[in-house]
Order: sequence, then C-alpha cells, then structure tokens
Amino acid sequence: MSRKNGSYLVLVLLIVASLLLAACGPTEEPTQAPQATQAPEATQAPQPTAAEPTGGELEIFSWWTAGGEAEGLNAMYEVFGEKYPEVEIINATVAGGAGSNAQAVLATRMQADDPPDSFQVHAGHELIDSWVKADKMEPVTFIFEENGWMDVYPPGVIDILSYDGEIWSIPVNIHRSNVLWYNKAIFADNGLEAPGSFDAFFAAAETLQAAGVTPLALGDNGIWTATHLMESVLLGVLGPDGYRGLWTGETDWNSAEVTEALEVFARMMEYVNEDHAALSWDQAAQLVVDGDAAMTVMGDWAEGYFKSVGLTPDEEFGWAPSPETGGTFMMLSDSFGLPQGAPHRDNAVAWLEVCGSQEGQDAFNPLKGSIPARTDGDRSLYDVYLKSAMDDFAANEIAPSLAHGAAASTGWVTAVNDAMTLFVSDLDVAGAQTALAQACVDAGVCQ
Ligand code: GAL
Repeated sequence: MSRKNGSYLVLVLLIVASLLLAACGPTEEPTQAPQATQAPEATQAPQPTAAEPTGGELEIFSWWTAGGEAEGLNAMYEVFGEKYPEVEIINATVAGGAGSNAQAVLATRMQADDPPDSFQVHAGHELIDSWVKADKMEPVTFIFEENGWMDVYPPGVIDILSYDGEIWSIPVNIHRSNVLWYNKAIFADNGLEAPGSFDAFFAAAETLQAAGVTPLALGDNGIWTATHLMESVLLGVLGPDGYRGLWTGETDWNSAEVTEALEVFARMMEYVNEDHAALSWDQAAQLVVDGDAAMTVMGDWAEGYFKSVGLTPDEEFGWAPSPETGGTFMMLSDSFGLPQGAPHRDNAVAWLEVCGSQEGQDAFNPLKGSIPARTDGDRSLYDVYLKSAMDDFAANEIAPSLAHGAAASTGWVTAVNDAMTLFVSDLDVAGAQTALAQACVDAGVCQ
C-alpha cells in the first residue's frame, strides 16, 4: 500500500472512528468513550505478557466454514503452524454467516466460563458491548506494544477496538458490505450494465425476468442477509449522513425516506429466487455462479467465495457499489480476541500475533476477499477487485455496517433482524417501519 493510501487511510479511519463513537449514542457514560488515538500511557503496573508456545492445543472459534472464508482462515493456520508446529490447532467452527449460529454457542460457553482460546468477533459494538463491558476479555494492548503495531494500524481502527484505555482485540481485515455482484455473461447477453441507481436496478430486473433469469439472489435462511440487503438500501436512499444518523438518533426512523427504503426493499423482493428462505448467503452466491441468478448484494466475502469455486474477478463476475451507494464504503472488521481464562493463553497470544502480523494478514485477506486492517499490506498480492476496494476505502465516505456489528449494539441488531424476519414474509412496510422505530427506542437511542 502506498504512503499516500496510508495517509488517506488514517484520515478516513479517524472519520470512521468518530462516527462509530458517535453511534455509541447518548446513553453511554462519558467514561465509556474509547480513548484517543494513541496507546494508553504506560502504566506503573507490569504489563501482561506471554511465553513462547511449547505445545498443547489452540482452540480457535469462528463461523468461517464457507468457500473463501474457510480458505482464508486455513492460510492463517498455516502461518501459525510453520512457526509453532508443536501446537495442535482445534478449528472450532459453527456454520452460519455473520455468526448467526456461532454467537449463541459462544455466549453459552462464555457464560459457563468455558471460553475457546480465541474467537472471531466484529470490531466495534459487537466486541465492546457484548464482551468487554461484560468483563469477559483480557486487553491485548500489550500485544500491540510489544510488536510495534501502534504505528502500522490506522488510529481509527485502534479506536474502534478500544475501551477504557485498553485495546481489546486484534483486527485481521476490513470488509465492504455494500457490493452488488453480477454474472458478467448474463449481463452481456442481456445488454445490461451494472445498475448504479434503483431505477436502473429495476429496469435490469425486468429485462432479466423477461429473459427467464432470476434477477437477484438472496439466501436468508440466516435472516442477517435480509438485514444486510436492507442496510444497503437504507444507505442508498438516505445517503451516508442520513444512514449514519439512524444509529445516533439524528435520523428519524419514522421519516418518509425510511418508508421509501422499505418500499424499495419490498419491491426488490419481487425479483428474488423463490427458495430464498431455504438458502444460505453462499448458496445464493452459487446461483450467480451457475447463471441461475444475475446479481446478489453481499459483502466482499462473496469475492472470496467466487474465487474459491474457480472464478476470476472481472472475468466471470463483476461488481459495483449497491444501487445509489457509489462513493460510500460500508465497512466492518473481523477481529480475534483473548477471553479471560483462555485455557492455552500462551498459544492464544501467539495466534493473535499471527493475526496481527503482515504475514498473517497478507496470507488471509487475498483469499478472504477483504483488505488488510494494517496499512502496510503488500498491494501486489491483491487482485483487481481487492485493489479497487483498497482505493475506495481510501477515497470514499465510510459508513458502519449494521448487520456485522459495527453500527449498533448486538441487542439492536437482533431487534432489526426480528423485524426483517416478519418483513420478508409479509412485506408490510408500515409494520416494519413501526418495528424498526421501536427498536431504536428500545436501544435507548431514540425517544
Ligand atoms: C461476516 C463476517 C465475514 C464473513 C461473513 C459471512 O459477518 O464479518 O468475515 O464471514 O460474515 O460468513
């Protein structure tokens, strides 16, 4: 990554940080605001540390089982395995995109004081609200300091991992959520271009439907994918300021714009595959691979999936910001944390050092379909899509993803998912808007 990109990143991430902090909302205690962009001052207390691994197990908990994400995780395991061949990695996965099943299993284990050695967690609210405030995590500030990472991570990234003067997890990537992926052959056959607007999207959908192709693939057997599509539509209709305001109380959930977004979503549902409720996100992506559907709106882990089944970006599949979101990068970040009472703590710290290293991130991200969280990733290792994501991340406005833990508390995300479960089946715009407005009130952000 060039120095220019790096400095853009710093700037952009400072903005991300401020909006994510703002999203903490008025109910936060002042003391809960994450600290400024620097590491906490060195304290008099001795820093925690860890010994070199000498053997034993390392249990890593995640939901990365689909094509692309599983390969990326495995690449990090290989980096770890080369350094510590005597350690046995236990790959504890619970299938279900966005942690839709894993998070419940993890919660049960954490409550029973039976944590894995390390687990995947989204940076931002999911990490801080779910685990740090519950006093279930060990800070990892010492890992950043011992490895000299305070200067290779953008301050904004460090901010969203920070709370109460400590850093609480190691970020492995930056993902983009607002991407429309399309089958290039189908688009060419039908004389279509990537739709930049909702009007263009619906015109393309009509053309595709007339040609006997499902316009939009959706796999909402985990309801988060409907929330994922909804957040992209909200961003498209409301714009980045209006969208960000949804999570701070500045945008009215009862507004005409939110009504319009819900209407757009309901109209999109006329063009999705009939079996959407039975499929997962990657099965929906496979419909696009097979030419049974033309488009899907999914985070760029779909890029990792497409590559895992042998496709090449810009050959078989193309991409564009989801309709009317050009110029905004809806972001989220996956990270790994150190639970209190990790059974093999030394191995866990060694794992976290791999996660945060340039070597680890440059092994993981090209397969995962994400860009490194570090500013010094080796750009030459990244494909044409990922290079475009790096450029967009540096140049675009940034908005936090709701569906992936960056915009709002876990409870609020659950309430939105519940509203979406009803909405995808009844398409009752007024009912959905009432439920979403109530979710903001219940989260303590709206009056
Ligand atoms: C997201 C996660 C991604 C990817 C996706 C589908 O929540 O951040 O890394 O795993 O779920 O599983």
